[in-house]
Amino acid sequence: MKTFIKYSIITLLIFISFTSCKKEKEVITIIETVRTEETTNDSRVSLKLNDMQKQHQLSNMRSHLEAVQTLITLIANDEFDKASKVAYSQLGSTTEMKLMCASFGNKKFENMGLNFHKDADQLSEILKTKDKTKSLQALSKTMNSCISCHATFRQ
Ligand code: HEC
Repeated sequence: MKTFIKYSIITLLIFISFTSCKKEKEVITIIETVRTEETTNDSRVSLKLNDMQKQHQLSNMRSHLEAVQTLITLIANDEFDKASKVAYSQLGSTTEMKLMCASFGNKKFENMGLNFHKDADQLSEILKTKDKTKSLQALSKTMNSCISCHATFRQ
């Protein structure tokens, strides 16, 4: 009887360790499948940036997002002159922005970036007219450039 209990416990332990190990393997397989799908489904062109470029680009992008939020607030409050300055200095064709677009070594990316900054220059000019509808239309056009670049490129 004693040996029966002993063997039962051993069998139970083996069974538990086997099933838990199986579960672990299943989880690992699921994670690997998701990872592969993530990379293969992303058909955007990689800019193959190094770590420093990545950080620099993302912080620049976060500033762009902040600039758009500031612009919406300023337009809502009829502060068009301020908005015009923000549009040019934060999103427009400044020397810094042009150099940044050229620094990633991809001509198509550079052109998309430069067109985006040109849209922002136009936005800056339209804001000077203090026409809310036209200003919002120009902001929308500028933001289309954000969308099309994001759909085309990744880091
Ligand atoms: C010429 C290309 C281009 C344009 C134009 C562009 N972006 Fe980006 N942006 C990128 C790339 C590339 C990434 C990295 C995406 C990735 O690797 O998944 C990015 C990432 C971002 C991120 C993520 C930041 C983070 O810290 O994770 C934000 C936010 C962003 N962009 C906002 C904007 C906004 C807002 C605009 C327009 C006002 C804009 N971008 C215009 C190329 C662009």
